[in-house]
This record gives sequence, C-alpha cells and structure tokens, in this order.
Amino acid sequence: MRKMIRPSCFRMLVAFILSAVMLVGCGAFDGEIFEAYAVDDSSDEFITVGFSQLGSESVWRSANTESIKSVFTKENGFLLEFNNARQKQENQIKAIRGFISQRVDYIVFSPVTETGWETVLVEARSAGIPVIVVDRKISSASEKLFTTWVGTDARAEGEKAGRWLEQYLADIGKPNKKINIVVLQGTIGSSAQLGRTMGFDSIADKHKNWNILEQQTADFTAAKGKEVMAEFLEKYDNIDVVVSQNDDMTFGALDAMKEYGVTSGENGDVVLISFDAVHEALELVQQGIINVDVECNPDQGKYVMDIIKRLEAGEEVDKENVVEELVFTKDNVDEYIDNRTY
Ligand code: AHR
Repeated sequence: MRKMIRPSCFRMLVAFILSAVMLVGCGAFDGEIFEAYAVDDSSDEFITVGFSQLGSESVWRSANTESIKSVFTKENGFLLEFNNARQKQENQIKAIRGFISQRVDYIVFSPVTETGWETVLVEARSAGIPVIVVDRKISSASEKLFTTWVGTDARAEGEKAGRWLEQYLADIGKPNKKINIVVLQGTIGSSAQLGRTMGFDSIADKHKNWNILEQQTADFTAAKGKEVMAEFLEKYDNIDVVVSQNDDMTFGALDAMKEYGVTSGENGDVVLISFDAVHEALELVQQGIINVDVECNPDQGKYVMDIIKRLEAGEEVDKENVVEELVFTKDNVDEYIDNRTY
C-alpha cells in the first residue's frame, strides 16, 4: 500500500543496534507509555507514525490530539503509536527513543519546550527516521535535525493581541490612557509562551502609557490560572488589562475575578484578552466577558498527513508550515461559533 521508502539494510542494522543499546541502557520501555503497537508483519502495509503529544493540559490540547488521531487511521493507511508525555520533556524524549527502537516510519512530536532536543534528534537522524515537529517550535540549534514543522505563529498571535489593544484604546478615544497590565503566561520556555510574550511586548514597547505590572506563568491550566490571578488581585488594585496566554488560564482567571468581585469585558472593570478561541471561550466573547480571543488553530493533523504523503511520494516539503488563524471579537464571533467543534 505505501510507496516504500524502506530503510536500507545498513539503516536497518544501525536501527537494530540502536534499539539494542537503548533497551540495555534505558531499561525496558514503560508499559504505560508503549502499550499500543509493536512493529510486526502487518505494519508493512501501513505507514507507521509515532506521535509524542506533550500533555493534556488544555481544551486546545485535547482538540489537537483529536486532530492527529482522526487522520492517522488504518483507513487512511497509517498505524499510529500515540504517547502522552504529561508535560514532561523527559517523557517525550523517552517516547521518541521508543519510536526509534520500534523503527516507525515517521516521528511526529509537539515539543513542550523549545530547547533540549538535539541528542534525541541526532539519534532519530542516525536511525534514518524523518521527524516532523507540530504545534510548538524547537530552537534553531536543532533546525537541521528535523524535516519540517507544522504549527502556529505564536509571535504573530502576541502581536495581534497587542494591536487589538492599541485599536481598542483608540476606539474609546483614550490612546494615551495609562493602563496597567498583568499577564498570565503559558509554560515557561515553550514557543507558545515565548512567542506570545515577545509579540505582545513588541507592541507594548511602543506605548509609554502601557505598564506591565507583572507577568507570571500559570502553565496553560485553569487551576493555575485561578491561583495566579488571585495573587495578582491580592497584590494590585489597579489592573486595567488582563492578558491570558490561553483560554484555560482565562477560565481560571475568571473564577478568581468572580471571587474578588471584579468583572471583565466590554462593560467590566478590566479588559480581558485571551488566546486559543475554543468554543467555550467564544461563548464568553459573544457574551462580552472576553474582549478578544486570538486564535491558535489546533487542527493540524490533516496538514501533517498531507506532508507525510508528499514525502512518501518523494516530493520536497517546505521547512515551515504555518496554519491559518483569526482574531475573534463580538463583531465577528457569530459567524464562526457554530462550526467550532472543540
Ligand atoms: O502550543 C499551543 C498552546 O498550548 C495553546 O495555546 C494552549 O492551550 C496549549 O496548551
């Protein structure tokens, strides 16, 4: 079924030796992590893909996982080995090593942080397995070690948020109003956190009247979003704008605000800016509770599948593939909300 880009005998020998070394060196694979499939005769008919998902911290992440699982099916000619790393880079590295020893045809992974991948990617390259990075980016030091990247432009997302705030202040006739901003950041060192921070800061830097009171990580989760927002509210009584780098942290932040009697949105005490644009958050945009939600598109599976098909056909693929993203406010949300499945 698949067009055979089979490893040469030499590559297979290298892969075999590597597997043996890793099995001895690292101990047997963690049963929980590698329960799904072992390469056997039947897998020759299919393209085998090992996918290391970084975790399940957010609604967005579940949608991203679903997007991958829905395309890498037997019906589409694939066998998928899925691994959830539960937010730990060491688990992702272990999973990737497992994929190498299983001699999957492609390794796909969504990196929890930007750095720290060189060693394992060198191992994948030595085994002759193409690596596709999805969602978040890895640092340019590893650029030669993966085939292609499919994901979202976090820096552009941060800039969009900053530009929306610029326009909002202009629209209410107060472009020079002194505003105090707090930022709930995502997982420190992830390209989503780094990019959104850099993008927003690049706009904030142009405005002397924008004062960032504090930025603190809440790790992209609702529970920590609530905790960190409560800390901000304890500390500051002059917050004008809350920038929350994903919707889950926004949900948590809203819980905290409720407890402190602070309202948000078009008629509220604070302006609320969020990222992701999952269905539940778009409902809050519709209700005027979130002012703006900058989309981060999790539907990346179909792009990854298309890239693998092209690689199988011997075609060249672009090194970077950015998925399309929108910005949602009360003005346009009605058009999109009904089709949002996650
Ligand atoms: O990398 C994408 C980010 O990670 C999404 O904004 C967030 O919800 C997720 O956890």
